[in-house]
Amino acid sequence: SSHLTILGIETSCDETAASVVARGADGKGEILGEVVLSQLEEHSAYGGVVPEIAARAHVEALDSLISEALLRAGRSLEDIDAIAATSGPGLIGGLIVGLMTGKAIARATGKPLYAVNHLEGHALTARLTDGLSFPYLMLLVSGGHTQLVLVRGVDDYERWGTTIDDALGEAFDKTAKLLGLPYPGGPAVERMAKNGNPERFTFPRPLVGEARLDFSFSGLKTAVRQAAQSIEPVTDQDVADICASFQRAVSRTLKDRIGRGLERFRTLHPDVETPSLVVAGGVAANAELRATLQALCDKNRFRFIAPPLALCTDNASMIAWAGLERMAAGFAPDDLSVAPRSRW
Ligand code: KG4
Ligand code: ZN
Repeated sequence: SSHLTILGIETSCDETAASVVARGADGKGEILGEVVLSQLEEHSAYGGVVPEIAARAHVEALDSLISEALLRAGRSLEDIDAIAATSGPGLIGGLIVGLMTGKAIARATGKPLYAVNHLEGHALTARLTDGLSFPYLMLLVSGGHTQLVLVRGVDDYERWGTTIDDALGEAFDKTAKLLGLPYPGGPAVERMAKNGNPERFTFPRPLVGEARLDFSFSGLKTAVRQAAQSIEPVTDQDVADICASFQRAVSRTLKDRIGRGLERFRTLHPDVETPSLVVAGGVAANAELRATLQALCDKNRFRFIAPPLALCTDNASMIAWAGLERMAAGFAPDDLSVAPRSRW
Protein backbone atom coordinates (compact mmCIF):
# COMPACT_ATOMS: atom_id res chain seq x y z
CA SER A 1 0.00 0.00 0.00
CA SER A 2 1.10 3.61 -0.48
CA HIS A 3 0.61 4.62 3.12
CA LEU A 4 2.22 2.36 5.71
CA THR A 5 1.86 2.35 9.49
CA ILE A 6 4.12 0.46 11.85
CA LEU A 7 4.46 -0.17 15.57
CA GLY A 8 8.03 0.24 16.88
CA ILE A 9 9.47 -1.23 20.09
CA GLU A 10 12.78 -0.23 21.74
CA THR A 11 14.23 -1.98 24.82
CA SER A 12 17.98 -2.25 24.15
CA CYS A 13 19.23 -0.19 27.09
CA ASP A 14 17.50 1.76 29.86
CA GLU A 15 14.60 3.27 27.94
CA THR A 16 11.39 1.33 27.36
CA ALA A 17 9.67 2.83 24.34
CA ALA A 18 6.84 2.23 21.88
CA SER A 19 5.75 4.31 18.91
CA VAL A 20 3.40 4.26 15.94
CA VAL A 21 4.85 5.89 12.83
CA ALA A 22 3.42 6.33 9.33
CA ARG A 23 5.15 6.75 5.99
CA GLY A 24 3.37 8.33 3.04
CA ALA A 25 3.81 7.44 -0.62
CA ASP A 26 6.00 10.55 -0.89
CA GLY A 27 8.42 9.03 1.62
CA LYS A 28 7.53 11.49 4.38
CA GLY A 29 7.27 10.15 7.88
CA GLU A 30 4.91 11.11 10.66
CA ILE A 31 4.97 10.10 14.31
CA LEU A 32 1.37 9.28 15.22
CA GLY A 33 1.89 8.39 18.87
CA GLU A 34 4.98 7.72 20.96
CA VAL A 35 5.91 7.00 24.57
CA VAL A 36 9.29 6.67 26.29
CA LEU A 37 9.78 5.55 29.84
CA SER A 38 13.24 6.28 31.22
CA GLN A 39 14.60 4.00 33.93
CA LEU A 40 16.99 6.70 35.14
CA GLU A 41 15.66 6.56 38.69
CA GLU A 42 15.98 2.79 38.95
CA HIS A 43 19.66 2.96 38.01
CA SER A 44 20.90 6.25 39.44
CA ALA A 45 21.63 4.81 42.89
CA TYR A 46 24.08 2.39 41.22
CA GLY A 47 25.82 5.05 39.11
CA GLY A 48 25.10 3.17 35.89
CA VAL A 49 22.70 0.84 34.12
CA VAL A 50 22.21 -2.49 35.93
CA PRO A 51 21.21 -5.09 33.27
CA GLU A 52 18.97 -7.22 35.53
CA ILE A 53 17.07 -4.20 36.81
CA ALA A 54 16.69 -2.93 33.24
CA ALA A 55 15.27 -6.23 31.95
CA ARG A 56 12.73 -6.43 34.76
CA ALA A 57 11.65 -2.82 34.24
CA HIS A 58 11.13 -3.48 30.50
CA VAL A 59 8.94 -6.50 31.29
CA GLU A 60 6.84 -4.50 33.72
CA ALA A 61 6.34 -1.48 31.45
CA LEU A 62 6.30 -2.62 27.84
CA ASP A 63 2.72 -3.92 27.38
CA SER A 64 1.08 -0.80 28.77
CA LEU A 65 3.48 1.47 26.84
CA ILE A 66 2.46 -0.25 23.59
CA SER A 67 -1.22 0.25 24.46
CA GLU A 68 -0.52 3.89 25.27
CA ALA A 69 1.33 4.49 21.97
CA LEU A 70 -1.55 2.93 20.02
CA LEU A 71 -4.06 4.99 21.99
CA ARG A 72 -2.18 8.22 21.29
CA ALA A 73 -2.04 7.28 17.60
CA GLY A 74 -5.75 6.46 17.55
CA ARG A 75 -4.94 3.04 16.11
CA SER A 76 -5.53 -0.56 17.08
CA LEU A 77 -3.23 -3.49 16.35
CA GLU A 78 -5.48 -4.38 13.41
CA ASP A 79 -4.79 -0.98 11.79
CA ILE A 80 -1.03 -1.29 11.63
CA ASP A 81 0.84 -2.87 8.73
CA ALA A 82 3.87 -4.24 10.55
CA ILE A 83 5.87 -4.44 13.78
CA ALA A 84 9.48 -3.33 14.23
CA ALA A 85 11.49 -4.29 17.32
CA THR A 86 15.12 -3.60 18.22
CA SER A 87 16.97 -6.90 18.08
CA GLY A 88 20.45 -5.57 18.86
CA PRO A 89 22.99 -4.39 19.75
CA GLY A 90 22.32 -3.84 23.45
CA LEU A 91 21.69 -5.53 26.78
CA ILE A 92 20.48 -9.05 26.08
CA GLY A 93 17.74 -9.14 28.74
CA GLY A 94 16.03 -6.05 27.36
CA LEU A 95 16.44 -7.19 23.75
CA ILE A 96 14.74 -10.48 24.57
CA VAL A 97 11.79 -8.69 26.17
CA GLY A 98 11.25 -6.32 23.22
CA LEU A 99 11.83 -8.81 20.45
CA MET A 100 9.65 -11.52 22.06
CA THR A 101 6.85 -9.00 22.49
CA GLY A 102 7.19 -7.97 18.85
CA LYS A 103 7.11 -11.62 17.77
CA ALA A 104 4.04 -12.33 19.88
CA ILE A 105 2.16 -9.42 18.32
CA ALA A 106 3.30 -10.46 14.83
CA ARG A 107 2.15 -14.02 15.41
CA ALA A 108 -1.19 -13.01 16.93
CA THR A 109 -2.02 -10.49 14.19
CA GLY A 110 -0.34 -12.20 11.24
CA LYS A 111 1.57 -8.97 10.45
CA PRO A 112 5.21 -8.93 9.34
CA LEU A 113 8.00 -8.39 11.86
CA TYR A 114 11.14 -6.35 11.22
CA ALA A 115 14.07 -7.01 13.57
CA VAL A 116 15.84 -3.66 13.58
CA ASN A 117 19.44 -2.81 14.35
CA HIS A 118 19.41 -0.05 16.97
CA LEU A 119 22.21 1.80 15.18
CA GLU A 120 20.24 1.79 11.93
CA GLY A 121 17.46 3.48 13.88
CA HIS A 122 19.82 6.29 14.91
CA ALA A 123 21.28 6.47 11.40
CA LEU A 124 17.96 6.93 9.59
CA THR A 125 16.29 9.36 12.04
CA ALA A 126 17.30 12.43 10.01
CA ARG A 127 15.23 11.10 7.10
CA LEU A 128 12.18 11.02 9.37
CA THR A 129 12.76 14.50 10.81
CA ASP A 130 14.34 16.30 7.85
CA GLY A 131 13.63 14.14 4.79
CA LEU A 132 17.38 13.96 4.20
CA SER A 133 18.58 12.12 1.08
CA PHE A 134 21.48 9.67 0.88
CA PRO A 135 24.41 9.83 1.25
CA TYR A 136 25.23 11.74 4.45
CA LEU A 137 27.51 11.51 7.44
CA MET A 138 26.27 10.59 10.90
CA LEU A 139 28.03 11.07 14.22
CA LEU A 140 26.57 8.90 16.96
CA VAL A 141 27.73 9.90 20.43
CA SER A 142 25.93 8.11 23.26
CA GLY A 143 26.70 6.24 26.46
CA GLY A 144 27.48 3.09 24.51
CA HIS A 145 28.65 4.28 21.09
CA THR A 146 30.96 6.76 19.43
CA GLN A 147 30.87 6.28 15.68
CA LEU A 148 31.27 8.30 12.53
CA VAL A 149 29.28 6.53 9.83
CA LEU A 150 28.76 7.12 6.12
CA VAL A 151 25.07 6.46 5.48
CA ARG A 152 24.81 5.41 1.83
CA GLY A 153 21.34 3.90 1.92
CA VAL A 154 19.04 1.61 3.89
CA ASP A 155 21.17 -1.30 5.13
CA ASP A 156 24.17 0.34 3.46
CA TYR A 157 26.59 1.83 5.96
CA GLU A 158 30.31 2.35 6.16
CA ARG A 159 31.84 2.93 9.55
CA TRP A 160 34.64 5.47 9.23
CA GLY A 161 35.59 5.79 12.85
CA THR A 162 34.83 4.35 16.25
CA THR A 163 36.23 4.60 19.75
CA ILE A 164 39.14 2.36 20.55
CA ASP A 165 38.25 2.48 24.29
CA ASP A 166 35.48 4.45 26.08
CA ALA A 167 32.38 5.85 24.38
CA LEU A 168 32.10 9.62 24.67
CA GLY A 169 29.07 9.52 26.96
CA GLU A 170 30.92 6.99 29.09
CA ALA A 171 33.86 9.43 29.35
CA PHE A 172 31.47 12.12 30.59
CA ASP A 173 29.91 9.66 33.07
CA LYS A 174 33.28 8.45 34.40
CA THR A 175 34.61 11.99 34.68
CA ALA A 176 31.54 12.99 36.66
CA LYS A 177 31.92 10.00 38.96
CA LEU A 178 35.59 10.84 39.60
CA LEU A 179 34.57 14.36 40.56
CA GLY A 180 31.71 13.25 42.81
CA LEU A 181 29.03 14.55 40.44
CA PRO A 182 25.68 12.74 40.03
CA TYR A 183 24.74 10.19 37.34
CA PRO A 184 24.24 10.60 34.43
CA GLY A 185 27.46 12.54 34.18
CA GLY A 186 26.99 14.43 30.92
CA PRO A 187 24.44 16.99 32.10
CA ALA A 188 26.28 17.40 35.45
CA VAL A 189 29.64 18.03 33.77
CA GLU A 190 28.06 20.51 31.35
CA ARG A 191 26.37 22.38 34.20
CA MET A 192 29.61 22.65 36.21
CA ALA A 193 31.63 23.62 33.12
CA LYS A 194 29.56 26.79 32.71
CA ASN A 195 31.34 28.38 35.67
CA GLY A 196 34.74 26.93 34.94
CA ASN A 197 37.94 28.08 33.24
CA PRO A 198 38.52 25.86 30.18
CA GLU A 199 42.14 26.96 30.00
CA ARG A 200 43.25 25.97 33.48
CA PHE A 201 44.11 22.38 32.52
CA THR A 202 45.41 21.17 29.19
CA PHE A 203 44.00 17.68 28.88
CA PRO A 204 45.15 15.31 26.13
CA ARG A 205 43.47 15.39 22.72
CA PRO A 206 43.86 11.73 21.77
CA LEU A 207 44.49 10.80 18.12
CA VAL A 208 44.33 14.44 17.02
CA GLY A 209 46.31 14.83 13.81
CA GLU A 210 46.06 11.17 12.84
CA ALA A 211 44.66 10.27 9.44
CA ARG A 212 42.44 7.43 10.69
CA LEU A 213 39.09 8.63 11.93
CA ASP A 214 38.93 6.75 15.24
CA PHE A 215 38.38 8.18 18.72
CA SER A 216 39.91 7.48 22.13
CA PHE A 217 38.73 8.91 25.43
CA SER A 218 40.22 6.79 28.20
CA GLY A 219 43.44 8.86 28.40
CA LEU A 220 41.34 11.93 28.94
CA LYS A 221 39.62 10.30 31.90
CA THR A 222 43.00 9.34 33.39
CA ALA A 223 44.21 12.93 33.02
CA VAL A 224 41.10 14.16 34.82
CA ARG A 225 41.80 11.76 37.68
CA GLN A 226 45.38 12.97 37.96
CA ALA A 227 44.28 16.61 37.93
CA ALA A 228 41.73 15.99 40.68
CA GLN A 229 44.31 14.09 42.77
CA SER A 230 46.85 16.88 42.42
CA ILE A 231 44.57 19.32 44.25
CA GLU A 232 43.84 19.04 47.98
CA PRO A 233 41.17 19.86 48.99
CA VAL A 234 39.19 20.06 45.72
CA THR A 235 36.84 23.05 45.73
CA ASP A 236 33.72 23.58 43.62
CA GLN A 237 35.74 26.01 41.51
CA ASP A 238 38.38 23.32 40.88
CA VAL A 239 35.67 20.90 39.77
CA ALA A 240 34.19 23.55 37.49
CA ASP A 241 37.61 24.24 35.95
CA ILE A 242 38.25 20.52 35.39
CA CYS A 243 34.82 20.10 33.76
CA ALA A 244 35.35 23.12 31.49
CA SER A 245 38.84 21.92 30.52
CA PHE A 246 37.51 18.40 29.89
CA GLN A 247 34.77 19.72 27.63
CA ARG A 248 37.29 21.88 25.79
CA ALA A 249 39.50 18.86 25.12
CA VAL A 250 36.51 16.86 23.87
CA SER A 251 35.44 19.73 21.58
CA ARG A 252 38.90 20.10 20.10
CA THR A 253 39.18 16.36 19.57
CA LEU A 254 35.82 16.17 17.79
CA LYS A 255 36.71 19.21 15.69
CA ASP A 256 39.82 17.47 14.40
CA ARG A 257 38.30 14.01 13.91
CA ILE A 258 35.02 15.15 12.33
CA GLY A 259 36.82 17.81 10.29
CA ARG A 260 38.78 15.04 8.61
CA GLY A 261 35.57 13.10 8.07
CA LEU A 262 33.97 16.07 6.28
CA GLU A 263 37.02 16.33 4.01
CA ARG A 264 36.87 12.65 3.18
CA PHE A 265 33.16 12.93 2.38
CA ARG A 266 33.82 15.81 -0.04
CA THR A 267 36.58 13.87 -1.76
CA LEU A 268 34.39 10.77 -2.18
CA HIS A 269 31.18 12.59 -3.06
CA PRO A 270 32.12 15.83 -4.86
CA ASP A 271 28.75 15.70 -6.66
CA VAL A 272 26.65 16.04 -3.47
CA GLU A 273 25.60 19.68 -3.55
CA THR A 274 24.79 20.24 0.11
CA PRO A 275 26.53 17.55 2.14
CA SER A 276 25.13 16.98 5.62
CA LEU A 277 26.39 15.92 9.02
CA VAL A 278 23.76 14.49 11.35
CA VAL A 279 24.35 14.08 15.08
CA ALA A 280 22.63 11.48 17.27
CA GLY A 281 22.93 10.11 20.81
CA GLY A 282 22.55 11.60 24.26
CA VAL A 283 25.83 13.55 24.14
CA ALA A 284 24.28 15.59 21.31
CA ALA A 285 22.48 17.46 24.10
CA ASN A 286 25.76 19.17 24.98
CA ALA A 287 25.59 22.81 23.90
CA GLU A 288 29.36 23.31 23.54
CA LEU A 289 29.72 20.20 21.36
CA ARG A 290 26.77 21.25 19.24
CA ALA A 291 28.27 24.72 18.79
CA THR A 292 31.62 23.20 17.84
CA LEU A 293 30.02 20.92 15.24
CA GLN A 294 27.85 23.75 13.90
CA ALA A 295 30.89 26.01 13.44
CA LEU A 296 32.85 23.21 11.81
CA CYS A 297 30.00 22.53 9.38
CA ASP A 298 29.57 26.24 8.59
CA LYS A 299 33.28 26.52 7.81
CA ASN A 300 33.20 23.46 5.54
CA ARG A 301 29.84 24.37 3.93
CA PHE A 302 28.10 21.31 5.36
CA ARG A 303 24.54 21.34 6.61
CA PHE A 304 24.49 20.47 10.32
CA ILE A 305 21.41 18.53 11.40
CA ALA A 306 20.63 17.93 15.05
CA PRO A 307 17.21 16.26 15.35
CA PRO A 308 15.10 17.18 18.41
CA LEU A 309 16.76 15.74 21.49
CA ALA A 310 13.94 13.26 22.16
CA LEU A 311 14.77 11.68 18.79
CA CYS A 312 18.57 11.84 19.38
CA THR A 313 18.35 9.74 22.53
CA ASP A 314 16.90 6.24 22.56
CA ASN A 315 13.29 6.08 21.37
CA ALA A 316 10.94 3.76 19.49
CA SER A 317 10.03 6.16 16.68
CA MET A 318 13.47 5.67 15.14
CA ILE A 319 13.01 1.88 15.30
CA ALA A 320 9.55 2.13 13.73
CA TRP A 321 10.95 4.43 11.04
CA ALA A 322 13.85 2.08 10.27
CA GLY A 323 11.29 -0.73 9.87
CA LEU A 324 9.28 1.44 7.45
CA GLU A 325 12.40 2.28 5.49
CA ARG A 326 13.26 -1.42 5.21
CA MET A 327 9.72 -2.18 4.06
CA ALA A 328 9.70 0.63 1.51
CA ALA A 329 13.14 -0.40 0.20
CA GLY A 330 11.82 -3.91 -0.40
CA PHE A 331 13.62 -5.79 2.36
CA ALA A 332 11.87 -8.98 3.41
CA PRO A 333 10.45 -9.13 6.92
CA ASP A 334 12.30 -11.25 9.45
CA ASP A 335 11.45 -14.82 10.30
CA LEU A 336 9.82 -15.22 13.72
CA SER A 337 12.79 -17.38 14.69
CA VAL A 338 15.13 -14.35 14.49
CA ALA A 339 17.36 -14.16 17.58
CA PRO A 340 18.38 -11.05 19.54
CA ARG A 341 22.02 -10.07 19.11
CA SER A 342 23.74 -8.38 22.01
CA ARG A 343 26.66 -7.49 19.70
CA TRP A 344 25.89 -6.57 16.12
O1 KG4 B 1 21.74 8.15 23.87
P1 KG4 B 1 21.66 8.09 25.37
O2 KG4 B 1 20.50 8.74 26.03
O3 KG4 B 1 21.67 6.60 25.89
C1 KG4 B 1 22.52 5.61 25.42
O4 KG4 B 1 23.71 5.66 25.75
O5 KG4 B 1 22.03 4.74 24.69
O6 KG4 B 1 23.03 8.71 25.89
C2 KG4 B 1 23.32 8.80 27.27
C3 KG4 B 1 24.66 9.44 27.42
C4 KG4 B 1 25.15 9.40 28.85
O7 KG4 B 1 26.49 8.95 28.85
C5 KG4 B 1 25.05 10.86 29.28
O8 KG4 B 1 25.99 11.22 30.25
C6 KG4 B 1 25.28 11.59 27.98
O9 KG4 B 1 24.61 10.81 27.02
N1 KG4 B 1 24.76 12.96 28.01
C7 KG4 B 1 25.52 14.06 27.88
C8 KG4 B 1 24.65 15.17 28.06
N2 KG4 B 1 23.38 14.69 28.27
C9 KG4 B 1 23.47 13.33 28.23
N3 KG4 B 1 26.82 14.21 27.66
C10 KG4 B 1 27.30 15.47 27.59
N4 KG4 B 1 26.56 16.57 27.77
C11 KG4 B 1 25.22 16.48 28.00
N5 KG4 B 1 24.48 17.58 28.17
ZN1 ZN C 1 21.06 4.54 21.22
